[in-house]
Amino acid sequence: MAILKIARMGHPVLSRVAEPVADPTAPEIRALVADMIETMIDANGAGLAAPQVYVPKRVVIFQAPPERAPEGIDEAEAFDHTVALTVLINPEIEVLADGMETGWEGCLSVPGLRGLVPRYTELVYRGQGLDGETIERRARGFHARVVQHECDHLDGILYPQRMSDLADLIFESEVRARMAAEAERQKEKADA
Ligand code: NI
Repeated sequence: MAILKIARMGHPVLSRVAEPVADPTAPEIRALVADMIETMIDANGAGLAAPQVYVPKRVVIFQAPPERAPEGIDEAEAFDHTVALTVLINPEIEVLADGMETGWEGCLSVPGLRGLVPRYTELVYRGQGLDGETIERRARGFHARVVQHECDHLDGILYPQRMSDLADLIFESEVRARMAAEAERQKEKADA
């Protein structure tokens, strides 16, 4: 296993459409995924797509840990918000609800920045795992967000291209100040 170099915004590998994987069970795909997992954990990311490590193939990995689920939802609902580390090859997304929600995103290929990105809130994704088995899951919230973000990488799209207002593209170090200002505004609204 090895920690791989991560391509940064501007490299052509990030803006091309990745190729489907003919055989998800091939040893080179298994080796690629092992390196991607090590790279993602080392970089403390929630997901990683193969083009981010200069491999233009339709492979993504991601996770949505329980602490990302909203507070106060019941167990059945929380299930859709949470997912253990998943390997998805040749993924497809089917959107289930028209509604979109904005949320902060970052990307290992766009280091140091965060952006407010609208994403669909509810979807089903399908793809194959490393044993060639079919994976089909329903996803909501952060789980749905991370899947959309990673699958976009396979079509050459980075999150800033999904943003509706680039005034919401900010440095990581300013997120705290930005959120404090937002909370203050909400409070003023409530007090008025
Ligand atoms: Ni990304």
